[in-house]
Amino acid sequence: MSTTIQPRRFLRGLVPYIPGKAIAAVKRELGLRSIVKLASNENPLGASPKALAAFKRAMADCSLYPEGASPELRQALARFHRVDPDSVIVGNGSDEIIRLLCEAFVEPDDEVIVSQYAFIRFKQQAAMMGGKVIEVPMVDWTHDLRTMGRTASLRTKIVFVANPNNPTGTYNTEDELAELLAIVPASTLVVLDEAYAHYADGLPDFPLTVPGLLSRHPNLVVIRTFSKAYGLAGLRVGYGLADTELVGWLDRIRMPFNVNLPAQRACIEALKDAAFVKRSVALAAKGRESLGREIRAMGMEVLDSAGNFLFVHTPVPGRTLFHALLKRGVIIRPMDEYGLAKSVRITVGTPGQNKLLLRALREVLAQARNAP
Ligand SMILES: Cc1ncc(COP(=O)(O)O)c(C=O)c1O
Repeated sequence: MSTTIQPRRFLRGLVPYIPGKAIAAVKRELGLRSIVKLASNENPLGASPKALAAFKRAMADCSLYPEGASPELRQALARFHRVDPDSVIVGNGSDEIIRLLCEAFVEPDDEVIVSQYAFIRFKQQAAMMGGKVIEVPMVDWTHDLRTMGRTASLRTKIVFVANPNNPTGTYNTEDELAELLAIVPASTLVVLDEAYAHYADGLPDFPLTVPGLLSRHPNLVVIRTFSKAYGLAGLRVGYGLADTELVGWLDRIRMPFNVNLPAQRACIEALKDAAFVKRSVALAAKGRESLGREIRAMGMEVLDSAGNFLFVHTPVPGRTLFHALLKRGVIIRPMDEYGLAKSVRITVGTPGQNKLLLRALREVLAQARNAP
């Protein structure tokens, strides 16, 4: 049977997001027992034991609906960032915040500006609402904020910036960001996705956005997540910080109970465990140096990364490398989704995981070189 029912016209050309391959899927498909997943920029240290204990305790209340607006987590985030609780919106992952922003603000044919190889969800969500996506080329694999700012006009609803950016790992400085905010019209939202900001802490001129910049720019939205440095990707919690009126709109259209109860409680505890975040960031910072050095020594170009992952240009197609490593039990991320056939993204793991990756990578490259 076939149907004649059509989805909304904006959905017809939509390309779905391709997530990193799951460990369970690789085990099923290849019959492997031990897998190293370095494909989704997860935290190889797991999560704070305090957060996990709070999650388990909260299970006792799972027959009850959570408070829909996550008020306690909102309060905790407001204290943490020194902002008004009404300027915090909690989402089912920061992905939900990106979606809510597009749903709330992008009318068909409104312009949405993104950088060429910026996190792909920005343009996918904007297109879903019928937005006209304008991609501004990168300079040195970095967002060109000056050109993005100059491209913005009164027709532009959102300028999306990922800082640091996934998948390139590059970042923009405080001066570049200040210039962008100075150029764009007041009616244009600047959405700054700081999913990886923890890992950029201490890098030269990495912008300190909250509360400083945020309080001075009512058109700025900052997005953060519990999926990376807090190690809680499976719980699906992210949040946005913005002017209270903007947050009011997002709050009106989110799902009534968008964040589950154990997740809300776990995140409150995760916020308090600064030592865990510090350990996670230190592991990634050290790992990206050593892993980068080793991969460069194999003759590949590796971009300097401000995140917990590396962006690598490969001598063979990225998808070929991905499949060859998969057979050896290592999952990385090919970049063809971004139109980059000869690049891959590799999450920095524990020293043991990094070692396994390097060994597999050496074997695969040697085989490729010896191939007729
Ligand atoms: C830049 C960026 N923003 C947002 C997200 C979404 O994260 P989550 O929905 O898990 O909070 C990711 C995920 O990898 C990301 O890389």
